[in-house]
Amino acid sequence: MSDIHEIEHPLIAAKLTRIRDERTPSEDIRALLRQITVLMAFEATKSLPTTLIPVRTPIAQGEFRTLACGPITLVPILRAGMGMLDGMLEVLPDARVGYIGMRRDEESLQPVEYLCKLPSDIGAAPVIVLDPMLATGGSAADAVSMLKAHGAHDIRMMNLVAAPEGIRAFQDAHPDVDIFVAAIDDGLNERAYIVPGIGDAGDRLFGTDA
Ligand code: PRP
Ligand code: URA
Repeated sequence: MSDIHEIEHPLIAAKLTRIRDERTPSEDIRALLRQITVLMAFEATKSLPTTLIPVRTPIAQGEFRTLACGPITLVPILRAGMGMLDGMLEVLPDARVGYIGMRRDEESLQPVEYLCKLPSDIGAAPVIVLDPMLATGGSAADAVSMLKAHGAHDIRMMNLVAAPEGIRAFQDAHPDVDIFVAAIDDGLNERAYIVPGIGDAGDRLFGTDA
């Protein structure tokens, strides 16, 4: 079974509290989510493989660690995943970016795919999927299925807030994919929104109406 990493850190917690506040405007939510993503990136990339390479410093010759994988592919799930992309690119500036467009049908609560644009050799290096919300887990599970169908096999999932139900559903579907999350909330309401959550992540990030 995959691991669930709830990243507990005072800075992440304080910034998430500000995002949760219904009075926080979109411009602040965008900045806070980018900052949280940078902080979470350290944990989400901790298990990346490294190798030693020879380097001469101004003082001496030595062997030092460098990443032993090709350029990582970041895959934001549109729309809300875009709110995490810039933060990840700050720490992984040479990453490639693939896009999966997925919207949740608010009647059936099922994810509907509307875009898939990925590097053709996506299986060559690790993939990190970005989406602030893991609610029922349907969107994340479908996105990872699409990535696997395109050849990806070393996949990590990064979320801001997750519901226990969504974590279980996602782990059942993809027991090989670790989840990195800033907070695990109480559960889902009758419309499958995370409680207490942050509301509709896409609408809050981009200032659209729910
Ligand atoms: C949100 C969120 C996830 C999905 C989570 O996207 O960004 O992709 O809902 O819900 P689930 O776990 O129950 O599938 P939404 O469908 O609202 O689209 P948006 O990002 O374009 O607003
Ligand atoms: N999608 C969101 O944006 N928020 C939720 O709470 C659940 C799904």
